[in-house]
Amino acid sequence: MLKISVLVSGGGTNLQALIDAQNNGVLSSGRIVQVISSRPDAYAIERAEKNGIHTDIVSFKAAGNDFEARILEALGKFKPEIIVLAGFMHILSKNFIEKCSAKIINIHPSLIPSFCGKGFYGLKVHEAVLKSGVKITGATVHIVNEIPDGGEILAQKTVEILPDDTPEILQRRVMENAEWIILPRAVENLCRKIDKRVFIKPIKYPGRGIITGMTEKGRKMLAYFIMGRSSSSKARIFERSGDDLIIKLTQNDKNFDPSLILYSPLRIIDGNIIITNGDQTDTIYDFMKNGGTFEDALRTREYEPDEPHFTPRISALMTNSGYKQSILKKAGRYFFEYEYEKGKGRLIHTYNHDVMPGKTLPSFSGEPREIFIPEDINSFSNSLWDELGENYRVALYVRYYDFDGSYKDRLFNTQEVL
Ligand code: GAR
Repeated sequence: MLKISVLVSGGGTNLQALIDAQNNGVLSSGRIVQVISSRPDAYAIERAEKNGIHTDIVSFKAAGNDFEARILEALGKFKPEIIVLAGFMHILSKNFIEKCSAKIINIHPSLIPSFCGKGFYGLKVHEAVLKSGVKITGATVHIVNEIPDGGEILAQKTVEILPDDTPEILQRRVMENAEWIILPRAVENLCRKIDKRVFIKPIKYPGRGIITGMTEKGRKMLAYFIMGRSSSSKARIFERSGDDLIIKLTQNDKNFDPSLILYSPLRIIDGNIIITNGDQTDTIYDFMKNGGTFEDALRTREYEPDEPHFTPRISALMTNSGYKQSILKKAGRYFFEYEYEKGKGRLIHTYNHDVMPGKTLPSFSGEPREIFIPEDINSFSNSLWDELGENYRVALYVRYYDFDGSYKDRLFNTQEVL
């Protein structure tokens, strides 16, 4: 998990957007560890405190020439990997940027390269925009370099200008419709770029896992992975079978319990997609074929009989309108139901712990974890495969649906096909 410090000077609504994103899972690959305010009376400080975030005040007025040195000193307490300027009304010097090992990003309330640079900050930007007569404005998130508002652009969003706009009204619309949306996403994307290991860290052995959800632009997606410790578990590969997925063995002479190792992880019935970690895929399929439900089917099943772990059975059902996930474990049967939300998926997996040979693996607990789903299937599947780690990963399947019902997929196997 990357550490994020947020630098503020005022109301802190962009800080609030980051805090909200942290709470609702849009920002899950980094954590705000510190807020530094250049003004002692900034309301942003209160927002941070309310959320239990450490605050430092480095007053621009009081610090004078020591301003940047004092900020560097404050940053030294946490050594963040990312610094976000969120309504921070000062230009940082080349010297500061060079001394800072963190990536620094800024949110600016216009479409850079228009209405930016020295003198363009806060309301002044919107005053200039209105005066110019342009019909469209927006916001930009960019990397901070030695040129004010001049670094690489990470994200932009446009906002319409309306006839009766005042600078204040326009500022609010730009914040609501652009800034608060693009800033959290850009921070999440940057975190992922810097640190790819974001999906299931710090759990070293999640076992088997299902992800269902929707990409940023609204494409339905799913992923299923298996990890294994025993040699029979490791000697498996995924194979496509029409639109279904099947598991095959790569060595024929193994002693194994086939019912727990060989099954269809993915089957489709009437356009609904069933994904599970066992032969409950077929139970769900059969029930639904006869007009039954996902829940009814799973109520006839329980966790796996693999003493001492009693591995949970995890399952998911994707329909047009939403998706369900379920886990059957010793503690009971649990069902979760979600609507699709852009950029959001949920991950449910079998175990919750580091690998401890010879010991019982604790079952997954809590709710399926919210994760960010990028638009690019390659970056998603490569990151997930990386994160599963070389020791135990066995196979991964990722499918992104297009709007016309077609799909693209990615399949990874550790073992060579026999
Ligand atoms: C925001 O519109 C932000 O983009 C802008 O100041 C406002 C502060 O809002 N920043 C700049 O102009 C930086 N050049 P906030 O304190 O409520 O986040």
